[in-house]
Amino acid sequence: MDLSQLEQLLGGIEAEAAASAKAAKSLDALRSAESKLAKGPLAEALKSIKQFAPEERAAAGQAINRAKNAVKRIFTEAQRTLQQADVAGERKHAAGFDPTLPPPVTMRGSLHPVTAVQREVERIFVGLGFTIVGGPEMETDYYNFEALNIPAMHPARDAQDTFWLTNGWLLRTHTSPCQVRAMKRFGPPLRVIAPGRCFRYEAIDASHENTFFQLEGLLIDRDISIAHLIAFMKLLLREVFKRDVEVRLRPGFFPFVEPGFELDMSCMICGGEGCPTCKKSGWVEVLPCGMVHPNVLRHGDIDPHEYTGFAFGLGLTRLAMMKYGVADIRILNSGDLRGIVNRERLMGPIVSNG
Ligand code: FA5
Repeated sequence: MDLSQLEQLLGGIEAEAAASAKAAKSLDALRSAESKLAKGPLAEALKSIKQFAPEERAAAGQAINRAKNAVKRIFTEAQRTLQQADVAGERKHAAGFDPTLPPPVTMRGSLHPVTAVQREVERIFVGLGFTIVGGPEMETDYYNFEALNIPAMHPARDAQDTFWLTNGWLLRTHTSPCQVRAMKRFGPPLRVIAPGRCFRYEAIDASHENTFFQLEGLLIDRDISIAHLIAFMKLLLREVFKRDVEVRLRPGFFPFVEPGFELDMSCMICGGEGCPTCKKSGWVEVLPCGMVHPNVLRHGDIDPHEYTGFAFGLGLTRLAMMKYGVADIRILNSGDLRGIVNRERLMGPIVSNG
């Protein structure tokens, strides 16, 4: 055999490699075709080197190596193609898995709706120069009632029945005790908000819990009027809901304010049509408020002839219900997210983890 015959033989081997690689339907078939060529025609070609004159042997060896590499490449490429086809096939046929569907979504955790709305209201009031204060959940009769112009035997106590402790203290029924505490601590002028847990001994329904959250607000300065109060309340609701909210203002009786108001908002669960959340009235009580009573200012060591102020007791839990579309207050004490209609508002966009 001369060099040109050898080249011809090697060309034939490469063509055979390409044909058998293409024909192989499995990795096993591919491997056996490759080894057949290596042990047969390629091994024969290698042995033929001996027949060549010494000066031709280098060229013959290089031609054989080129052919060996070409055959290797053909089979490696065919192997990769077969493996990819296998994976796709496995995916397609795996039970219950459809690779054409979008990837599953991840539900991210979030703050509790009440905490989220509390932070938002805090942000708004801090921007208006208010200081956030706290107060004890176990209160004295004095701060919860007496200092708020509700002496013992006053009928207003009936509206806020609570849990009494054996030492004569009580679980506070509202955040209003923080009013006189703040007056004594800071003196006038002052702007504070006091968010926190409140407790009442009352029947539970879609909008009443025995434990819920309020956020007290108190502003005391010279020449503060009802106009300031209304402006702050409207601003608060507009900022929380990012739009003007339909509200109604009606007289409300609280011994610690004069005059006192109930500020209700149109029920966002039913759109004002009437539902169990709003007791079929179309309105939800969220923001009672009023001008601080002179007797309360006196309890806080503030001269009512020099200073006036307004106070409000925002129903934080009910505000969270309106904002996040929670029809029943009990859902907020459960782990069931299905009752939170506006989940995206709380958690941000639900993202795909694909
Ligand atoms: C008060 O508690 C007054 N301290 C509010 C106040 C403060 C008036 C300052 C004037 C000046 P009221 O009992 O209405 O008021 O409760 C205030 C808000 O707390 C209600 O509008 C309601 O949104 C919420 N709330 C009251 N009771 C419950 C309850 N059991 N469950 C859930 N939210 C409640």
